[in-house]
Amino acid sequence: MLTSALPYANGPIHLGHLAGAYLPGDIFARYCRLKDRDVVYICGSDEHGVPIMLRARDEGVHPQEIVDRYHAIIEDSFQRVGMTFDYYGRTSSKVHHETSREFFRNLAAKDVFVTKKDKQLYDPEAKMFLADRFIRGTCPNCSYEDAYGDQCENCGTSLSPKELINPRSAITDAEPIDKETIHWYLPLADFQPKLEAWINAHPEWRSNVMGQIQSWFKDGLRDRAVTRDLPWGVRIPEEIAESAGIEPDGKVLYVWFDAPIGYISATREWAQQQGDPEKWKPYWQDKDSKLVHFIGKDNIVFHCLIFPSMLMAHGDYVLPMNVPANEFLNLEGNKFSTSRNYAVWLNDYLDSHDPDSLRYALASNMPETRDADFSWQDFQARHNNELADILGNFVNRTFTFIKKYFDGALPTRGKLDDLDQEMIESIAEARDAVGFHLDKFQYKEAIRRFMDLARFANKYFNDKEPWKTRKDDLETCATTLNICAQVTHALAVLMNPFIPFASNKLWQMLQLAGAPEEASWDAVGELHLADGHQIGELVILFQKIDDAVIQAEIEKLQKALAPAEEEAPEPGLPQITFDEFMKVELKTAKVLEAEKVKKAKKLLKLQIEVGREKRQLVAGLAEHYAPEDLVGKTVVIVANLKPAVIRGVESQGMLLAVEEDGKMTVISPEAPVASGKTVR
Ligand code: MF3
Ligand code: ZN
Repeated sequence: MLTSALPYANGPIHLGHLAGAYLPGDIFARYCRLKDRDVVYICGSDEHGVPIMLRARDEGVHPQEIVDRYHAIIEDSFQRVGMTFDYYGRTSSKVHHETSREFFRNLAAKDVFVTKKDKQLYDPEAKMFLADRFIRGTCPNCSYEDAYGDQCENCGTSLSPKELINPRSAITDAEPIDKETIHWYLPLADFQPKLEAWINAHPEWRSNVMGQIQSWFKDGLRDRAVTRDLPWGVRIPEEIAESAGIEPDGKVLYVWFDAPIGYISATREWAQQQGDPEKWKPYWQDKDSKLVHFIGKDNIVFHCLIFPSMLMAHGDYVLPMNVPANEFLNLEGNKFSTSRNYAVWLNDYLDSHDPDSLRYALASNMPETRDADFSWQDFQARHNNELADILGNFVNRTFTFIKKYFDGALPTRGKLDDLDQEMIESIAEARDAVGFHLDKFQYKEAIRRFMDLARFANKYFNDKEPWKTRKDDLETCATTLNICAQVTHALAVLMNPFIPFASNKLWQMLQLAGAPEEASWDAVGELHLADGHQIGELVILFQKIDDAVIQAEIEKLQKALAPAEEEAPEPGLPQITFDEFMKVELKTAKVLEAEKVKKAKKLLKLQIEVGREKRQLVAGLAEHYAPEDLVGKTVVIVANLKPAVIRGVESQGMLLAVEEDGKMTVISPEAPVASGKTVR
């Protein structure tokens, strides 16, 4: 039972995500299938949680609209990069809501939770409890006025909402009040002895994962609230709400409680899709089943401590066999930053490059036990010097030779000399080495051992000098080329977990039935191709990538860094309250007439209509608009500005316009609106 962390459906996937939780899972799943292991590989969208709600609020749409959008984008880019999930679910599905409610019910019935009453900040205007992220206020540490309830983005201090000075609701700006609420907690301290015993029985886990877990143990595990007061999420079961004397409305499972259960729900949906609704059970419940979670390091506590506690408490489930969490990937020496758009987005990458090149570069440089760095130059070097010059070159020279001198039919293998023997034996050796390292989740080493086989094959080709034996020892020449072709077959299978698209192309060139995905890993090393086997049309597996392409990508990233420095935000005006803002009366107005003001080359005199009222306005637009261009336009004015006399002409209000690079543009409603309407 293999899982990759469910990505939050509130933005696209970038290369850091791919290297962290997805590519390692897919490589492993593909390898297991080739080994003929019975695997189900599951992923899906994590569609709850406060950041999704905040994003929805920013855009003025329902959270469902956000998750629908990104679920589709993410699923599409996963498919294009060759991910082979057996099922890609989503946590807004009905099955998921039922499954996680049922899980909660099960633990509640076993009295696993403790409930605690507490006072929490509440927005009296929006009539909702405020998650930490929904509260803003002044940081007690650095006086930054826009700190979040859980963290100050200015100085990095982590905060609790009650520490904020002048806290306010991020939704209405109202001052939050304390209101009593009840929450369900998972008493993790009670689980600690069992967790420690279980973890200590796994000395083979990665040291970076172990290190983090041990430090959690050392601090001592604490109760974790598993419910939240939010309108978006999986509602707690009604009868449980009732027995606690509260309304079920607005009381949901904490996103980190429901999301990992999403793995189970998605496996159930997969089973339904397979026409056998019970089929999910053995993968999750058979004591011999092996569960592996592929995640990034920020998810360790949830997958190694919290979710296992839930599984233990439930009792029907297996615990993970391993959680090979990856460290982080950096980008050209800097951290990925989604807010600054300092990232390589997977969908953008796939619009202009080959998925295999990325898979290869990331797997070769995977952040396995320490952070790694992705650079476009390294990417280019891996592609050009390894994929193209070693792997592609070997395949190409082999097939070209067979086409040219043997009419595209596999020549017969004759007597084998030591070098031939060595070449053949190194196929099975490579197979075992790659498999050995994949079983230990050592991707860098696995892919290196794979490429070593291609490297050795090139050397074999060189040393055998078939261009010479062709002339004086045709039998030897035929043997060499036969063996080279057998090696390409082996490579096609061994490369499949890493670079599946090239694997399929090669399979086509070899004119083999079925797909490399159906091949047997253990049978790699046998010489599969029969004498006389006809080779198909030759295609180049990897075209070299030009410097210009790489340069353009590097520049794109530099641009993302630059504006942050250039356009330091203007200091801005002091904050005003909502009430202060409401003193400004903004209204729509229609321009009826416009003419230049004599002897004032910048000014236009406008006659406008504000509902039933007519007014005259002076605006500094003469250098930007011809009078006739303004007539008929609907604009926005400050209607309660004290009248003023400008160059001897009375102006009864002010028109809104924006200046950019010296050019003025008037603000005008995006769709037709009557004049005299209030603008808010
Ligand atoms: N959405 C989380 C993240 O991106 C991962 C959730 S993993 C799951 O960090 F186990 F909760 F599903
Ligand atoms: Zn601060």
